[in-house]
Amino acid sequence: MSESTDSRPLDLEAFPPDFSWGTATSAYQIEGAVDEDGRAPSIWDTFSRIPGAIDNGDHGDVACDHYHRWPEDIALMKSLGIDAYRLSVAWPRVVPGGDGPVNKAGLDFYDRLVDGLLDAGIAPSVTLYHWDLPQALQDRVRDSRGGWTERATAEHLATYASVVAERLGDRVTQWATLNEPLCSGWIGHLEGRMAPGMTDITAAVRASYHLLLGHGLATQAVRAAAPGARIGLVTNHSTVEAATTRPEDIAAAHRMDAHTNRWWLDPVYGRGFPVEMRELYGVELPERPGDAETMAAPLDWHGLNYYFPVTVADDRTGPVPYAREVRLPDVPRTGMDWQIDAGGLESFLLRLTEDYGVREIYVTENGSAFPDTVGPDGAVHDPERTGYLEEHLAACARAVRKGAPLAGYYAWSLLDNFEWAYGYDKRFGLVHVDYATQKRTMKTSGRRYAELIRAHRAGR
Ligand code: IFM
Repeated sequence: MSESTDSRPLDLEAFPPDFSWGTATSAYQIEGAVDEDGRAPSIWDTFSRIPGAIDNGDHGDVACDHYHRWPEDIALMKSLGIDAYRLSVAWPRVVPGGDGPVNKAGLDFYDRLVDGLLDAGIAPSVTLYHWDLPQALQDRVRDSRGGWTERATAEHLATYASVVAERLGDRVTQWATLNEPLCSGWIGHLEGRMAPGMTDITAAVRASYHLLLGHGLATQAVRAAAPGARIGLVTNHSTVEAATTRPEDIAAAHRMDAHTNRWWLDPVYGRGFPVEMRELYGVELPERPGDAETMAAPLDWHGLNYYFPVTVADDRTGPVPYAREVRLPDVPRTGMDWQIDAGGLESFLLRLTEDYGVREIYVTENGSAFPDTVGPDGAVHDPERTGYLEEHLAACARAVRKGAPLAGYYAWSLLDNFEWAYGYDKRFGLVHVDYATQKRTMKTSGRRYAELIRAHRAGR
């Protein structure tokens, strides 16, 4: 039974016949088994032990126990009927020290997972870095503050990337270097709400630079190790509006757009870092000759993660970029308190197409958290998530009609999982997870997604 909040039929015909329907997850959020088979701690194992860092003192030690339950999870994917599954590889499982010896048992896990997916007719899409930096690299302080503030970390990412690509590249075609470098760079080093928990603009700017350098170096490494690889970068974006028509607020919106969007796209598309932001941050970039070209290595596709828009006002008392988020009254919101506005997805898809000239785009994440519960009938009814899904797919369809080269959509997330600083209370899954028993229950949004996939396929 559909629980759609929008009675208009979805324009599924807009999507090309080979459109790829998928779901996404990431290693630390679902795997658990943090000290099994040679995995070493990551910065998230460390961060989640800091009192007060994570709601309810949660951590990823067990998470969804996917490390042991992956066959059951592949069966769930099969029942959804997806074409592709976006997973991330845990660097601390594969190269526990960050650089140096490779942990064969760690690679073997991903080998089995990839084979299991292929046996189920599901194409794996592998993200190499979804925030779980080996703690050993964070602890290695050379000319800066460890981890991504050091240039060497970008080089180690490339070495690790080639190890994974050599092992899986005969079966995996779709590769992403990084997931959401904005979160690693800004939230992890400037806002302190994510690992490694720094609040330092110099560290943040250096980290952002090295993340994009690492992306470029890893792109080269994967291409060399797996010649058939199709490589992309996954970035998260928000459309930005000024709270008023005051010139100060409009300027604040420009700054927020440069901080949130252009800082992470312009260097990758050959435009360099936005000059006005370099001046505003006042931090010298650790540039070396050739870096700009490395960061701008041509890509096969771009991954857009979209969740919400932001509205800002000028605020000279706050942190850079001196733009305070304004909470609009009377607008729909998810359980994360994020404003729901599918129009932002449509417009960002068109911006990537028209402004950056991207020729193949995937929505690599899009989804919503709501406080779901298992009802007395044993089912999880989540009409709000279903509505969010349908509205955002409708926005994708509109963007495609206007020319966006959208090749696929990955719902975030397959499973409820460890939502970083929010712990387990925020549920994004199409499948509900009872963390006490690890029982999985397909939500009605998952059933609706399966129905839409089937309907699109029937029209192919
Ligand atoms: O759970 C995260 C994911 O790891 C990265 N993108 C946003 C999701 C929801 O917050």
